[in-house]
Amino acid sequence: MTETPSSSRSHSPQTSQGGQTSSPYGSVVAGAPGSGSPSPRKVRVHHLAQMRERGDKIVMLTAYDAVTARLLDAAGTDMLLVGDSIGNVSLGYDSTLPVTLEEMVVATRSVARATSRALVVTDLPFGTYEAGPAQALDSAVRLVKVGANAVKLEGGRARAQTVRTLTDAGIPVVAHVGFTPQSVNALGGFRVQGRGEEAADRMVGDVQALAEAGAVAVVLEMVPDPVAARVTELSPVPTIGIGAGGRCDGQVLVWSDMAGMTEWTPRFAAQFGQVGAALRQAAEDFGQAVRSGSFPAPEHWFDS
Ligand code: KIV
Repeated sequence: MTETPSSSRSHSPQTSQGGQTSSPYGSVVAGAPGSGSPSPRKVRVHHLAQMRERGDKIVMLTAYDAVTARLLDAAGTDMLLVGDSIGNVSLGYDSTLPVTLEEMVVATRSVARATSRALVVTDLPFGTYEAGPAQALDSAVRLVKVGANAVKLEGGRARAQTVRTLTDAGIPVVAHVGFTPQSVNALGGFRVQGRGEEAADRMVGDVQALAEAGAVAVVLEMVPDPVAARVTELSPVPTIGIGAGGRCDGQVLVWSDMAGMTEWTPRFAAQFGQVGAALRQAAEDFGQAVRSGSFPAPEHWFDS
């Protein structure tokens, strides 16, 4: 897939700010003052199926630390994903592959402490579950102990037994098919998945096997819209798309793409703010104020 800079998109996401956001408990006004707590009630895994049933879209964003999680939770986001995209976004790696379980434990603890409503889902990082169900269970238990409400793992029907083991242990699992970043080397780069009838059929079968094993939802990444629509129609559990068209049961984005922290975002993402530019401007203004002596001013001083 050729990815193009976000500036080439015609989408105008700013218009959606202040609009209606669905929650399992009704609609809330997103972005309005006081929208910090759309409902004091926690989103639980069974609400995902209820939302799908009602036709309410599921809203999911990544979060990696407390300050961001608090804001995204207050905005009425239904699910916060402590994604292994933390590797690229926060830790400075060039892929998700180096991310460790320790790093995910620290991030999960921070996000969970700052979240009161959203369902917190944490990625099992590369190398912490592929050996089989026992390894996956050890890893998942560590994440649940620090606040994950569910874990996410990548892969199709080959992961069904692992999903079953975690589910039987009381750990909800979100599956992830389509483009699976942890398999970037095997997949030959960032490529759209599920093209062609055979590949699409295989994806439907993968999702059905994962759902049968107990997965509570499935992330579809970089899948053509018609394929994602078919998978969604035939999936027993909600699908959450990223670069998978408009007909999934929900959508997920990496928060820094969504907020416009960087100039470039993947083609499938949209910038719903220009937070990066605002942050840089604030830092420049601070620097100028310090250098000119206008900050701190008397109102920032303590009297003797
Ligand atoms: O880690 C991540 O951010 C993800 C999303 C791309 C779904 O897995």
